[in-house]
Amino acid sequence: MDAIEVIGLTKRFGDNVAVNGIGFQVKEGETFGFLGPNGAGKTTTIRMLTGMTGITSGRALIHGHDIARETLAAKRLMGVVSETSNVYDELSAWDNLVFTGRLYHLGKAEIQRSARDLLDTFGLSERRHEPAEGFSKGMKRRLTLAMGLVNNPRVLFLDEPTSGLDVQSRRLIRDVVQDLAQKDVTIFLTTHDIEEANVSCDRVAIINRGTIRCAGEAEADL
Ligand SMILES: Nc1ncnc2c1ncn2[C@@H]1O[C@H](COP(=O)(O)OP(=O)(O)O)[C@@H](O)[C@H]1O
Ligand SMILES: [Mg+2]
Repeated sequence: MDAIEVIGLTKRFGDNVAVNGIGFQVKEGETFGFLGPNGAGKTTTIRMLTGMTGITSGRALIHGHDIARETLAAKRLMGVVSETSNVYDELSAWDNLVFTGRLYHLGKAEIQRSARDLLDTFGLSERRHEPAEGFSKGMKRRLTLAMGLVNNPRVLFLDEPTSGLDVQSRRLIRDVVQDLAQKDVTIFLTTHDIEEANVSCDRVAIINRGTIRCAGEAEADL
């Protein structure tokens, strides 16, 4: 069974067809890139696949669970890292992670273990008790990513994970994404950066004006 299966997926905003009948499959453990310019429909696609916005027509299945009909079962398997930060500025990095873990109804011991590991992975351990408002953009993005991993997802959605970040944060995020891929986590990431698509992804689809133009293997040697 595919980790993600998308069939004729469409989203309209009034007369604007933001996503126009797209279809593709992502295998378990694969890193799939969605490459396209601003306004192409990348965020809208992620929002439909993760149940954050309604689907106008078509279907999306996460490990066989229809996101519209079996929303909870599908959501339980996924982590989502949005374009915009969902970090609570007044909370520390630690408390942001604990709060996120509670949203997923994880046990206290599990949350603490997971929070410790993730802070370490993302280079935030030393500053875990400081409010996030003092964090740089890169640190906030790393924390957002950590929050997306608290529930140990099998499918991770990343919306432009490295755009606008410093080189160090970009590299760290890319390394973490590669690590997750090694652990058979399926990754769906969007980007407008062809280099990032080639570096991070096994396969890339190009989306423009809501339509997939072509899909193929990323260039392995770039
Ligand atoms: N909430 C919304 N209401 C109306 N139009 C929207 C909304 N969100 C996105 N759009 C439109 O959908 C199209 C695709 O946008 P988006 O998915 O954000 O593209 P991308 O993430 O590739 O930059 C754009 O034309 C955008 O203006
Ligand atoms: Mg977007």
